[in-house]
Amino acid sequence: MERVYIFDTTLRDGEQSPGASMSVEQKLEIAKLLKNIGVDIIEAGFPISSPKQFEAVQQISEKVRGPVIAGLARALQKDIDACYEALKNAEKKRIHTFIATSDIHLKYKLKKSKEEVLKQAVEAVKYAKSLVDDVEFSAEDATRSDWGYLKDIYEAVIEAGATTLNIPDTVGYTVPEEFAKLIEYLKQHLSLNDKVVLSVHCHNDLGLATANTLSALKAGARQAEVSVNGIGERAGNASFEEVVMAIKTRKDYFDMYTNIKTEEIYPLSKTVVTFTGIPVQPNKAIVGENAFAHEAGIHQDGVIKHNMTYEIMTPQSVGRQKSMLVLGRHSGKHGLKVRLQELGYDISDKDFNKIYKKFLEIADKKKQVFDDDLIAIVEGEMNVMPEVYTLEYFSVVTGNSVIPTATVKLKKNNKTCQDASTGDGPVDAVYKAIEKITGVEIRLISYSINAITQGKDALGSVSISVEKDNRLYRGYGVATDVIEASVLALLNAINRILHNNKVENLNNNKGVAS
Ligand code: KIV
Ligand code: ZN
Repeated sequence: MERVYIFDTTLRDGEQSPGASMSVEQKLEIAKLLKNIGVDIIEAGFPISSPKQFEAVQQISEKVRGPVIAGLARALQKDIDACYEALKNAEKKRIHTFIATSDIHLKYKLKKSKEEVLKQAVEAVKYAKSLVDDVEFSAEDATRSDWGYLKDIYEAVIEAGATTLNIPDTVGYTVPEEFAKLIEYLKQHLSLNDKVVLSVHCHNDLGLATANTLSALKAGARQAEVSVNGIGERAGNASFEEVVMAIKTRKDYFDMYTNIKTEEIYPLSKTVVTFTGIPVQPNKAIVGENAFAHEAGIHQDGVIKHNMTYEIMTPQSVGRQKSMLVLGRHSGKHGLKVRLQELGYDISDKDFNKIYKKFLEIADKKKQVFDDDLIAIVEGEMNVMPEVYTLEYFSVVTGNSVIPTATVKLKKNNKTCQDASTGDGPVDAVYKAIEKITGVEIRLISYSINAITQGKDALGSVSISVEKDNRLYRGYGVATDVIEASVLALLNAINRILHNNKVENLNNNKGVAS
């Protein structure tokens, strides 16, 4: 299998996304993650473009060892000087210099002839080469340039010392077959040796950036320029995660590999979202919220039987926890049954049909049916759980200089019982008091709190899951006071535990009697 070099431009082209600017510290943090995930070349910025860009390239050069650190420079001596200055402490440094080559750019933007541009490109590469060994040259807007001229300019910069020839689809104009032909043409007509690597850099204006990149790799390019989450100018760049996972998932077709540790993709994507403030669309391949979520009944049934029925890679292979079965109006019985089992309900077929009917009624009204809705359906439909303990009263004393102390009074069969406890915080204190009164000791596995209405007097809902005797139970409580919601959630879970024990005892006794 042949190696594909991953050149990440999240910090340069990615940062050119409108509104994506990151601080120097954030860029350094991302550069460290890029190094850890196994990126070969990190394009750290465009040093001449601003003092902050310069500083980011400088810091990354000093602090990130392992990958090649690249800086961007127009084909101008002052850009190359700034680039070199910023990169000079890098362990491995690359100057990436570029100039436009399409007729449209020459005529309207550069106002230069083809000969002038070729000469400027050669001078820039020679100058960069006098400073560093590793020089990359990009013919901006290559895909709208004359192929013969492209061949001439690339041939001239190889002579001048460039070792990476980047072929950018600057405006996302090409299509996979045409781009592959361009790569084949250049491979055929240039005097490439094993030191020269062909690279591609695709923009996503027609949604083809990943497809064009892959097509070019198949045709012989060996460096892919990509950005995390596909961020970049306008519609963005070829997405890091898509290109890497396509090569890995379809190695049978590409016969190539990258050195990327794909299990780190999702955390990296999340960090880029946090730092840039640019969210990922839910249906985005690999890293979108729904990339491993199944709603249709047929799909859920398939995934439960074997995940590969509807998943071509595992969520774990890209650093995500697990596939999600989203319960909604398209879900089938199998998905609902599995989710109810995961929630700790063991329901007979007869009761299940009643629950499924109710579930469909709710699913028709709501886009998504959440776990708490399911709990309410089960308990409402089956009247499974008479309340054993109810809350009469609670009070908590807390603050930053007192030990949180709670007093709780509960009612059971018309009798009240009260106890008090201290804890690490107010919730811990009330939970300990409740455990003392009920005699039910639990292990809190998860606790989450949400505002379910708006404003300062919003209702808070608390969802918990607890473990008792190796079984998982859930509890749910709603109140305007978050401690009260927490108390109600624990009572809900404890009542469920007691109810379950009662049912089990009854079943055991029946077994003995028969
Ligand atoms: O899109 C482009 O052409 C670029 C070059 C500077 C490589 O970003
Ligand atoms: Zn670009």
